[in-house]
Amino acid sequence: MLDRLNELERSALASLAAVTDADALEGWRIAHLGAKGAVKALAADLKAVPREDKPAVGKRLNEVKRALESAFEAKKDALGAAGSVRRAGPILDLTEPALAPAVGRRHVISRVREDLVGVFGRMGFEVAEGPELEDEEHNFVKLNIPADHPGRDPIDNFYLDDPAPGAPVRMLRSQTSTVQIRVMESREPPLKIISPGRVYRPDTVDATHSFMFHQLEGLSVDRDVSMVDLTTTLFQFARAYFGADAEVRLTPSYFPFTEPSAEFYMKIRLRPDEPAEWVELGGCGMVDPAVFEAVGIDPEEWTGFAFGFGIERIAMGKYGVPDIRMLYENDLRVLRQL
Ligand code: DAH
Repeated sequence: MLDRLNELERSALASLAAVTDADALEGWRIAHLGAKGAVKALAADLKAVPREDKPAVGKRLNEVKRALESAFEAKKDALGAAGSVRRAGPILDLTEPALAPAVGRRHVISRVREDLVGVFGRMGFEVAEGPELEDEEHNFVKLNIPADHPGRDPIDNFYLDDPAPGAPVRMLRSQTSTVQIRVMESREPPLKIISPGRVYRPDTVDATHSFMFHQLEGLSVDRDVSMVDLTTTLFQFARAYFGADAEVRLTPSYFPFTEPSAEFYMKIRLRPDEPAEWVELGGCGMVDPAVFEAVGIDPEEWTGFAFGFGIERIAMGKYGVPDIRMLYENDLRVLRQL
């Protein structure tokens, strides 16, 4: 009888070790610990054991029974959730549509800026950078903007506190045309650069104005550069970026740093329910000889064209954004559409 108990314990534990799922575990439980299982069957045979052996055999029987019960519990725990899952039906439903992971994206102004850099890059323009904290020399003086020009009014610019006597008057740049000056001061023509960046003006914020916005400056200086090169460049840009049916036009204008000067307009629909209108994207013209002289370039030998666009205007035109504030409020419901 003791041998049979030992054998039962050995074979039961061996077959339990091979159990890998809840159904097999339940089958094992019924076969070994169930009402008609092996342990019960051996217990029934206890009656036939000689009286003097009964205590030892009974003790062993209980040991085996407890060993199998605790092995069963341990196995059940080990199969754990997976075991009960099989009976309850799968929790992991591989056919269920997944939640889309929240992936971030770059702001529309950054994307437009890079797209513009890409378009002009393919036309041979390289990117140049300049500081946002500038001085009057680069923001006005060398751009041929005289001291009494209304654009230099302190009310229209972010000047820094009064400088020490003789120190340069500093300001947040109000236009990226400063970079034209910095590039021409430090490099020899031929030059073909664009410069995207932030500019600052204390304008009252409304649907088309902000105290900070972005411009894209362009400058091309070479021998025999003409107005035709300027218009070709701008019209090609418009078609490359907005599509072959982009409607663009230049109208005569005035800027101190270009002569002749023009404004660049494009027909843009900002709201789906309104007709397209002519929107001014920026200014342009032929570099004024006075500017060349201010940076030490001989205007007899070199000519050039320049342009300056508002990047927000371009973004608004491209994506149909009717109000510039939508670009800065960071409302994800808006930004996700752009
Ligand atoms: N700097 C001008 C502005 O902020 C835009 C501009 C006009 C830039 C004509 C140019 C240019 O380079 O040639 O209004």
